[in-house]
Amino acid sequence: MRQDHANEDLARPAGPVGRVRLCAGLAAASLVLAACGGDGGGGGGGGGGAAEGYPDGDITFVVPFSAGGPTDTVTRLIAEPMGEELGASIVVQNVEGAGGTVAAGEVSAANPDGYTVLMHHIGMSTAPSLYADLAYDPLVDFKTVGLVTEVPMTIVARSDFEPGTMAEFVDYVTENSDTVTLANAGIGAASHLCGLLLQEALGVKLTEVPYEGTGPALTDLVGGQVDIMCDQTTNTTGQIQGGEIKAYAVTTPERVESLPDLPTTTEEGLDDLQVGVWHGLYVPAETPDEIVQKLSDALKVALADQNVVDELAKLGSTPSSEDDATPEAHTQRLEEQIELWRPIIEDAGVAPN
Ligand code: MLT
Repeated sequence: MRQDHANEDLARPAGPVGRVRLCAGLAAASLVLAACGGDGGGGGGGGGGAAEGYPDGDITFVVPFSAGGPTDTVTRLIAEPMGEELGASIVVQNVEGAGGTVAAGEVSAANPDGYTVLMHHIGMSTAPSLYADLAYDPLVDFKTVGLVTEVPMTIVARSDFEPGTMAEFVDYVTENSDTVTLANAGIGAASHLCGLLLQEALGVKLTEVPYEGTGPALTDLVGGQVDIMCDQTTNTTGQIQGGEIKAYAVTTPERVESLPDLPTTTEEGLDDLQVGVWHGLYVPAETPDEIVQKLSDALKVALADQNVVDELAKLGSTPSSEDDATPEAHTQRLEEQIELWRPIIEDAGVAPN
């Protein structure tokens, strides 16, 4: 399922991800080959002069979850200053489905010309352990551009959910595990991973309700159609502060400044319930290094933008450091996280599908 929800200033007609179809359809014309990456899809490597004139048109940032959710929010925040830095419009396109793997699959096959960029999170590192027939290898079919943000998660519930504290929540969910419903954004989504750890910690199996993103899941939580969820502060902070949902704990070692009264899971004796969500930008593997560098440089500028810093802080999130907003640091994080999550997923008994 795909939705285009561009901001007014980021507007662009709906269409296939990136220039894949345009380039494939016109691949015979040498002029078009130049516009589509010079070598018709290959390139890779240093690509002497490959970034000359780049960008000369709109860049699409593909978000693998619904509009209005946490990934979408972070993407739209950085899109504007990145676009200004690059001298191009950045259009945000939501390509939902299968915990983010539909979007990642589409971007891995997009033309490697720097005009199609994937924003993804921790799910990039867990998909290989969760999907037996994944259409891509995160370490082979993409180049990393840089890390974007670090985001804590919160354990939240509909506002009239009975428990008042995390301790009461643990007791209540354990005693009522046959009726409590747990929302998530599909297998491999951050909400799914955090939900897995929550169920492990409590020794229960809850009824999971999958959505295309935690944007719509949060709407249902506020409406009382689903009971509980683990979700990123970039999605839940406003509703927690406004009393529209109940919050029990934050899943990072430190408390979050924007939600100072919320205890950590460690404080609540749930040491194994720790999830920090990280986001990064990716391009297809054959994208020339010079283009990747231009994108990474623009990312660094965007992450230092005061409005971005302030808005992320309000949402409990931290922009990645200049050192982390690099392909090298991002690749290292991806490799480490693939190794970290594999045994956790295996232990949780989640069969690859
Ligand atoms: C989203 O943007 O909807 C998410 O990041 C969902 C998730 O991973 O839980």
